[in-house]
Amino acid sequence: MTAQSSSHRKPVRTAIFPVAGLGTRFLPATKATPKELLPVLDRPLIQFAIDEARAAGIERMVFVSHPSKSAIEHYVLEDPELEKTLREKGKDKMADRLCDNALDPEKVEVRFVMQDEPLGLGHAVLCAADEVLDGAVAVILPDDLILGEPGCLSEMIEAYQGADDGHMVATMQVDDQAVQSYGILSVTGRDGQVLKADGMVEKPAPEEAPSRQAVVGRYVLDGSIFEVLKTQEPGAGGEIQLTDAIARGSKELGLCGFRFTGTRFDCGSKEGMLSAILAYAGDRPEFQGVLDSATPTVLAAE
Ligand code: UTP
Repeated sequence: MTAQSSSHRKPVRTAIFPVAGLGTRFLPATKATPKELLPVLDRPLIQFAIDEARAAGIERMVFVSHPSKSAIEHYVLEDPELEKTLREKGKDKMADRLCDNALDPEKVEVRFVMQDEPLGLGHAVLCAADEVLDGAVAVILPDDLILGEPGCLSEMIEAYQGADDGHMVATMQVDDQAVQSYGILSVTGRDGQVLKADGMVEKPAPEEAPSRQAVVGRYVLDGSIFEVLKTQEPGAGGEIQLTDAIARGSKELGLCGFRFTGTRFDCGSKEGMLSAILAYAGDRPEFQGVLDSATPTVLAAE
């Protein structure tokens, strides 16, 4: 952990959840169900992200969604009718659980804004500009699931308060071949979990990668990011890339990486989702029997 100076920064009060993407890698599952609602066993991805933000003390959550993905709104907010029905049937425990999961607008401010066209992650973040509170903002990509305690955003915000750099991005070590799938941080030094950086390179060839520190879906961004995004030209894939805007702004503001404690799963890919389900089930004793017997059964069927 970085040396904690007495915090000279405003608290991070807002988290932005970009959830407007098409989720094409998970078709046909995502034809009618938003990717962010796909379950890791019985918990939708978005629930993990919400809980991580709640644990980090976020006051306002801004969901950048698409008109076709209204199921997310339905999921995130309380459902008094369903709660009533469950209680009438004597299923109080389940009703309590649903209430705990849902966002109570009296405790956390909830905003939905629409990104009518998926023009890229940077564009999605820009769509939230009018809804953010003062100070730096957190961005959480729900399909990047990070399991473990403390929650990634909690430890990241704590480190951000003690660091001097304008933007902070979560990073993890990847192997040589994987660098070409990520934004890679150009690391210049290290202070505990905080990596000093002077830029990042999008999807470099292994021999050109400045480090093995890959940027994953948690960011704490200086509020000036919105001004930069307004003039951000489309980048890779013709999309307005958040990483391009971070890199541009960081020349003046500074940039650092944060090596989080937990384990990250790329639940935007089928391999990552399967790994996440196995890891999550592995932590729950009631599934031990299934996990123990699954492998021999599959082998026998082959
Ligand atoms: P991804 O690029 O992983 O999501 O974006 P995608 O485009 O939906 O997935 P594929 O590649 O087609 O399978 C990461 C996060 O950013 C959001 C997505 O919803 C996801 O949560 N996103 C992406 C937006 O909100 N808007 C965009 O224009 C792009």
